Amino acid sequence: MKPLTSLLLALLFLSSQTVLSFKRDEFRNCNQTPFCKRARARSRSPGGCTLTPHDISISNGELTATLLSEHEDQIRPLILSLSVYHDGILRLKIDEDYDHSDPPCPKTRFQVPDVITPEFDSNKLWLQRLSTETLNDESSPSTVVYLSDGYDAVLRHDPFEIYVRDKQSGEEDGENWEERFRGHTDTRPYGPQSISFDVSFYSAEFVSGIPERAMSLALKPTRGPGVEKDVEPYRLFNLDVFEYLSESPFGLYGSLPLMISHGKEGRSAGFLWLNAAEMQIDVLGDGWDAESGIDWVKQKRIDTFWMSEAGIVDAFFFVGRGPKEVVRQYTSVTGRPAMPQLFSIAYHQCRWNYRDEEDVENVDAKFDEHDIPYDVLWLDIDHTDGRRYFTWDSALFPHPEEMQKKLAEKGRHMVTIVDPHIKRDDSFRLHKEAAEKGYYVKDAGGKDFDGWCWPGSSSYLDMVNPEIRSWWGDKFSYENYVGSTPSLYIWNDMNEPSVFNGPEVSMPRDALHLGGIEHRELHNSYGYYFHMATSNGLLKRGGGNDRPFVLSRAFFPGSQRYGPVWTGDNTADWDHLRVSVPMILTLGADVGGYFGNPGPELLVRWYQLGAFYPFFRGHAHQDTKRREPWLFGY
Ligand code: NOJ
Repeated sequence: MKPLTSLLLALLFLSSQTVLSFKRDEFRNCNQTPFCKRARARSRSPGGCTLTPHDISISNGELTATLLSEHEDQIRPLILSLSVYHDGILRLKIDEDYDHSDPPCPKTRFQVPDVITPEFDSNKLWLQRLSTETLNDESSPSTVVYLSDGYDAVLRHDPFEIYVRDKQSGEEDGENWEERFRGHTDTRPYGPQSISFDVSFYSAEFVSGIPERAMSLALKPTRGPGVEKDVEPYRLFNLDVFEYLSESPFGLYGSLPLMISHGKEGRSAGFLWLNAAEMQIDVLGDGWDAESGIDWVKQKRIDTFWMSEAGIVDAFFFVGRGPKEVVRQYTSVTGRPAMPQLFSIAYHQCRWNYRDEEDVENVDAKFDEHDIPYDVLWLDIDHTDGRRYFTWDSALFPHPEEMQKKLAEKGRHMVTIVDPHIKRDDSFRLHKEAAEKGYYVKDAGGKDFDGWCWPGSSSYLDMVNPEIRSWWGDKFSYENYVGSTPSLYIWNDMNEPSVFNGPEVSMPRDALHLGGIEHRELHNSYGYYFHMATSNGLLKRGGGNDRPFVLSRAFFPGSQRYGPVWTGDNTADWDHLRVSVPMILTLGADVGGYFGNPGPELLVRWYQLGAFYPFFRGHAHQDTKRREPWLFGY
């Protein structure tokens, strides 16, 4: 009896709260984050309230059930739906039943829009219930549905679990996934305020994923025997982390709530939770469930514990013969990566900042003089008029079109930076228009949110709103972006969003978006919608015939459709060079190290490695010495 790849999901709802630090004091840890603290404490306690499915039926091709808890604090039933898509992908959704609210529910939970591709949605299969069976020695029945030729999905009624099982292993395999992790209950008196559940990966030697952090690809355990007590769970909360450390599990600018397992048998499994609120994930070490008598070595099972502050359960299960198949399934849900512009896979030269047109001309000429190939020259925030994006400093860059044309004549391109914070200055047309149209994110009191960023007092566009995204996209037309030409492309930075005077250098969680959605509910997707709006703007600019190039610092599932991402502000030291390898398996990294001055050998080695990065750009902070490739060693 071989436990082939299976995923098991035991869901139990908990109460809420928060997270951790780098410049440690600036960021919250799990104990300072109420939903995390409570959820983590609860995962240790056995028993409590479990959910049981009732009224299981198949309608409109998907399985639905009502989840009830014996816990008297559950004020509303939950609605579960299970659907099956092409390629054997299983999707599980759980939300509150608003129809049966008593008293009526004033607010629905945020469901992340515009990530799942329309093609994926149209590929839903008509789900068939195979049977209601009592598996092995269980007393409670399970509903079994066909997933693909290789796999079934099983919904166990009591205790409530959902898992994917390999057909070949049949019922004999049952006990391998019947061993489950402990239950968790919601203690909030007014119903669930946060969500947590277990996900177990069977036949798994290791798990990887949930970028972004500067550490090995394989995720080390955060709890269980042999793990120090104060190890934090992995946090997914997009943040502008100044001078981040190498070899640190700390979450950085982007969030992909996707975990992939792999085992010696060559099987891989993946789990995606489409949820944009702050998330914390524990990976549990061997023997965590020692009291249950499970033989962990034989089990080859890795248990993980997922916690989020808000939103719903919308989860996808992928199983395949290797990581490649799992990634293929994942991108069938969230979209395939954009085909890059040919020039963008070559070498990019960037610096904060190239001072003026003369500086640009000299750097460009030196590349030719030294016969060093390069394709793109970048301008950081100080090419603008007082950090008002879409403008040029008229003293330093008086002829932007001519400057771009000169580069274009040699087949080269230019990239300028456009950040999401808009200078609050009534003489700045973009700000005036956005304010008049009511396009900014609001503070908790309903006024335009006002935060501090590069230009000083700034407001932030509400990019979750498609109307605002479309308006923003129009700003990239040649007519609106005066001084831009067809060889100019864009860099979206600071889109976590970074707010210098905000909590943890970001936006307060009670800021309000379209339709009263709280920022806490969508924080991790903010940068994604900004990237999407910019990329669609460039597409429109080119009449649909020119592939956009937009680099983004923040990311979320689906970002791959809109352009590359990179590892943000790394440092010029050997550890950052090394850790860039596991990091750039999904991202690009600043060649040479952003902060600090690399020695000649480090810079040479970095260029040698960087040539293999998917996105190859030399970049440096404004306080560093000039380091265009012909300068090092001098
Ligand atoms: C932060 C970015 O990560 C960095 O690359 C850039 O140079 C600065 N912002 C200034 O725009």
